[in-house]
Amino acid sequence: MEENQGQQIVSMPRIGEAAPVFKAVTTQGEINFPADYKGSWVILFSHPADFTPVCTSEFMTFATMEEQFNKANCKLVGLSIDGLYSHIAWLRTIKEKIEYKGMKDVEVTFPLIEDITMEVATKYGMMMPGESNTKAVRAVFFIDPKGIIRTIIYYPLSLGRNFEELYRALIALQTADEFGVATPADWQPGDDVIVSPAGSCGSAKDRMEGKEEGLDCKDWFFCTKKMDKETVLNKILKK
Ligand code: BEZ
Repeated sequence: MEENQGQQIVSMPRIGEAAPVFKAVTTQGEINFPADYKGSWVILFSHPADFTPVCTSEFMTFATMEEQFNKANCKLVGLSIDGLYSHIAWLRTIKEKIEYKGMKDVEVTFPLIEDITMEVATKYGMMMPGESNTKAVRAVFFIDPKGIIRTIIYYPLSLGRNFEELYRALIALQTADEFGVATPADWQPGDDVIVSPAGSCGSAKDRMEGKEEGLDCKDWFFCTKKMDKETVLNKILKK
């Protein structure tokens, strides 16, 4: 952390950079991050505090969807600046007492990092003093199997995350990697994907004349192609 005219400058990891390294105590034992997750995607996410309602709804939802994420070769790791015993007590309460939107008896089996020193939260830019000095915001880092940060999403304290959107983003990132394509607004597996723009005047002309098979070009720079749901999911999901 640097100082500039009395203001603290906090460096934050960025998309395309290596995920900052840390060792931490979690509800599932000690982890070395990201080394322990090499070869898997990871969603590292922070929540403001244990024993709070929005966070509880989020943990129940994420835990219920964990297998779905695991099938897409993605592990989940949570963090708040609470201590280990608070984490354990909260997760026990969730399992034993909380029923919400048809979810009950929910066991959170992914690791939840204790970060009372705020070391990890600070490294990852999860603390946003304009929102809170004592709680991490709802940050979500998608980290690829090589330990590179690929997507970052932030939400404020009051706004619970949409976990279907996090799953959609994970599948879209993997689709882009596997097939060398991009995904348009609101893309879902089965929708058309976007191919890279024409790289030369000749290719732009060919595309507009319909000479590149399988492409549907709205204009020379905006061409899509079909990619069926099975093609995407067979490549991405573990059997
Ligand atoms: C919540 O998870 O309910 C929450 C946490 C911190 C501030 C506001 C709401």
